[in-house]
Formats: sequence, C-alpha cells, structure tokens
Amino acid sequence: MNPELNREYPDPGEAKLIEEMVQLTVDRMKPQQGRIRRGVHAKATGCVRGVFRIRDDVKGDLRHGVFSQPNHSFQAIVRFSNSSETIEQDGKGDARGMAIKLLDVNGPQATPGTNNRCQDFLAVNHPTFPFATPAEYLKFFDIRKTPLVGDSLAVAWLGLFHYRHLKIGKEILGKIIADPLDLKYWSCSPYWLGQAGTTVGHAVKYSIVPRLEGMELSGNPKGMADNYLTQTLGQHLRMREAIFDFRVQLQTDPVTMPVEDVSVDWDEEASKPIPVATLTIGVQDIYSPEGNALFEECEGMAFSPWNALAEHRPIGGINRMRQAVYLASQAKRASKCLP
Ligand code: HEM
Repeated sequence: MNPELNREYPDPGEAKLIEEMVQLTVDRMKPQQGRIRRGVHAKATGCVRGVFRIRDDVKGDLRHGVFSQPNHSFQAIVRFSNSSETIEQDGKGDARGMAIKLLDVNGPQATPGTNNRCQDFLAVNHPTFPFATPAEYLKFFDIRKTPLVGDSLAVAWLGLFHYRHLKIGKEILGKIIADPLDLKYWSCSPYWLGQAGTTVGHAVKYSIVPRLEGMELSGNPKGMADNYLTQTLGQHLRMREAIFDFRVQLQTDPVTMPVEDVSVDWDEEASKPIPVATLTIGVQDIYSPEGNALFEECEGMAFSPWNALAEHRPIGGINRMRQAVYLASQAKRASKCLP
C-alpha cells in the first residue's frame, strides 16, 4: 500500500493494545516521595511562566488553531522534566521533557465534549522515539515482564529485531545536560495542522529551538547536586530570559516522513521547519513564594498532547495510544488540565 500525505492509518488491533498499555501504566505508578507521580516524567526540574507570541508572518495555509491569530500573545506555563518513571538524580542520562500549556485558548477541542481552554505542546530533547508503533512498545513491555531476566531479554529483543530503535534508546539514555533552557526539543510524534474534520491542512511535527543553544554537559555529573538542573534553571532565569522559536515542519513525503512510525526522523533539510511563534520565558525567581507555589500547582496539572484544539489534533498510532494512557495516569494521580 502506498501511503498518502497527511493521512493516518490506524492498526485494526489498536484498541486492545491501548487497553493493555493503560493497565500497564497505572499498575506501575507507585507513590514516590509521598505521593503518586506521573506515569513517566515523574520529576519536574522546573515550572515557570512564559509568553507564547504568534508571529505576524505565519503563512496563510498554516494559520490554523492558535497560529491563526498573528501577533497574539498567550500566557503560558512550562514544565521541564526528566522522563524517567522514577525520581532520579539529574546527573543520570535521560530524555528531558518540555511541556508548554497555553492558557485561555478558545475553540473546538480535539477531544469532543471537553472544554479545557488550554493548548498543550509536549516535546523532548530528541527527534525520535525508540518504538515505532503501539504494537512494538507493548511487545517490549511484555518481554520485560519475564521474571528475573525481563529487562535484559527486552533489550536483546530490541537489538535483534529493531537495532535502529535500540540505538535511539541508547542515545536518549546517554543525554546528560547542563541547562533545560538551552536545549532543542522535538514533538517526535505528528499533529494535524488544519481545518478540523477536513483534509484541508498538513501533518506536521513541532520543534522548539532556543535562540542560544547550549552544550551537553562535559565532565562528570557525579559531582553535581541531585537537583542541579533546577539550580541551573533558577540561576539562568535570575539573570536572563530564555527565548525559543517554535517551529512546524510539514510532512512533504508520506514514505520518508511517516505518520505511523515515530522512530523516523523527518529530515529537516528535505522539509525545513518554519518558525510560527516565539516562547519567551522571562526573568523570574523560581525560589520566590510565587515560584514555589507555581511548582506545586504544576505537579497537580495535567499536560497532554490531547489538551488541544481540533485544529491541532494529535495523529498517528503512538499519539492515539497516548490519549487514553495520559487520562489514566492523570486520573490515578487526581490531576486536572488546570487546577
Ligand atoms: C512520542 C513521543 C512522546 C513525547 C514527546 C512525550 C513527552 C512527554 C512529556 C514532555 C511529558 C511530561 C508532561 C508534564 O510535564 O506533565 C509526558 C508525560 C507522560 N507521557 Fe509522554 N511522550 C511521548 C510518548 C509517550 C508514550 C508513547 C507514552 C505511553 C503510551 C507516554 C506516556 C506518558 C505519561 C503516562 C505521562 C504522564 C501523564 C500525566 O500523568 O500527566 N508518552 N510525555
């Protein structure tokens, strides 16, 4: 079958896989440091306020959803995290998450019947996810359940049948960073950007790029404090703002830039990312009473790719699976889009 541009191809067996993934996620959620944390991305390294301003030069065919309002500024809350399901020292290699929540957003929702008035964008500091599809992700977890040798067996299976994915996993787990505000982030998974319920629009991925990109940490993270990423982020924002360009990348080839396989990097030379908004995280004191209160509030918030306008609907198998999984994780830890 030749796939077409901007189209999803759901796997007929997906509903059962999603059910299993939901169960697996909630079963693994145990209290950590006094409370039930997120199913993954359990540790926040910062939660801050920002302003997300839509550029005035967004091209006509990209003017959908929040990007349809040139020059409009949305107030935003941004949570930075380590992606592990357990709370670990910041010096441990891991993917780093950036979750942006735009406030006071109006319009038809991606999930009919909800009215969150938020638009969330979730990203990590790697362009690809180590599992292509829900089926592959589930298989990995199934093998991990094997008593005693599960973890080694699952890694061996990945190496044998999906060597490229094992390499992505290793690259991610090797990521030791200096400052969450100096990183480039990618959505990994695709989204619709177009009129809701029509074929007028594009499949896109997002990337969020700092104006001043930092370096990966050189030297030994062992000497660093457990929470050194929060400390660095705090120092950074005491002295200077952080500005990110928010970009969309259009799917221009349905084979080399698939919607249903999130392990494939969409080549940024073949389809250049287009800046559509600017996120400015202004100077602020994360240790002030307001800063601490926001951090606490953020722990009770729910960020999800499905807190979205219909014009920004998540697409592709991994995103379809994320809808139920995030809801289950949020229900178990009793969180809401906004507290
Ligand atoms: C495709 C690439 C993915 C990206 C870029 C991504 C990114 C993120 C980020 C940044 C967060 C933290 C949100 C926050 O700060 O509250 C998060 C949370 C979470 N992710 Fe993902 N994720 C991806 C795929 C997945 C998949 C495949 C699953 C499992 C099926 C998953 C399950 C979760 C769960 C359970 C949470 C916590 C939800 C909550 O309780 O609020 N993610 N993800």
